[in-house]
Amino acid sequence: MIPIAQPIIGEEEIQRVTEVLRSGELAAGRYVKRFEEKFTEFLGAAHGVAVSSGTTALHTALAALGIGPGDEVLTTPFSFIATANSILYVGARPIFVDIDEKTYNLAPGALEEACRRHPGAKGILLVHLYGHPAPMKEIMEVAERFGLKVIEDCAQAHGAVYGGKKVGTMGDAGIFSFYPTKNMTTGEGGLVVCQDEEVALLARRFVNHGQEVRYTHRELGYNFRMTNFQAAIGLAQLEKLPGFNERRRANGERLTAGINNPKIITPVEIPGCRHVYHQYTVRVKGPQGDKEREQFVEHLRQQGVGCQIHYPQVIYRQPVYQGLGLNGSCPVAEQAAREVVSLPVHPALGQGDLEQILQAVNSYR
Ligand SMILES: Cc1ncc(COP(=O)(O)O)c(C=O)c1O
Repeated sequence: MIPIAQPIIGEEEIQRVTEVLRSGELAAGRYVKRFEEKFTEFLGAAHGVAVSSGTTALHTALAALGIGPGDEVLTTPFSFIATANSILYVGARPIFVDIDEKTYNLAPGALEEACRRHPGAKGILLVHLYGHPAPMKEIMEVAERFGLKVIEDCAQAHGAVYGGKKVGTMGDAGIFSFYPTKNMTTGEGGLVVCQDEEVALLARRFVNHGQEVRYTHRELGYNFRMTNFQAAIGLAQLEKLPGFNERRRANGERLTAGINNPKIITPVEIPGCRHVYHQYTVRVKGPQGDKEREQFVEHLRQQGVGCQIHYPQVIYRQPVYQGLGLNGSCPVAEQAAREVVSLPVHPALGQGDLEQILQAVNSYR
């Protein structure tokens, strides 16, 4: 079975982790500092704080921007659940805004309308879903007009570019995840970037028990620190990220050029955007409606092609969101949740794998 994701770990990663083991400096230390510097420099951001996961990065970014109990944050219902959960972690309320049917990112028109309905909202938490940048120009204009903080969830978009800028550098803060399925990995891990020094200081304290000076705790904080092991892997992976992304793009382009099944709608790349194909997500349309995707997935499995549904349910319909009084009404996202399927696009695929995927997709009737 061709896997849907496959991290590529080489001798460089093994060597650097061995270095950490030999150094005896096992928790956060100079590897973490170096990783923060290198990743921040790669993006062109001002400050970076490495953390234990993308989820803790989201939690930290919201807290450092002063979003707290009772605040409203506009976000997408079509993402991994961590996006919206982070809003709940700080005691705020997610307001779910519908998405664009082609890119699956927040729809600026729906966002503006939601801002009018929620004039007291504090922030926008957007996602660059599947590695395709969200429409930052329009989102930043809305944010400015309504006085909202902007957090970019770039967990799936390391190195994606919008209008010449890397994602994560345009909002008030950006967050990344380095989970093994992502465009680069540290095992588990995450990072918060921001432009403002004060926000960076708050984030750094938040992930380290509220302390700047040892054993002086200024506010309630957490242990969300990254370890040197993770950073050592990250340093090696970061050097490979541009090559990984090129391969993802080439694989994505090969799939788009080769898919000729009228039931399958291929992903788009909006002009001015550089998609990094964290996922290659198609839509399945056909006379059988909801059943069509089920049959397509079954067909792919029989043909030895792994696939995954990102995501089968909008967040506000998840069991954990019932009873919170957070109903959403996002028909475009709900339809996407019934039709999308992600195909393998990762950099470990060979030409033979791509041909097998195409053969499987095109032979579906
Ligand atoms: C869009 C999005 N946000 C947040 C996260 C959370 O990242 P992590 O799994 O590193 O906690 C993920 C990871 O799956 C994600 O895809």
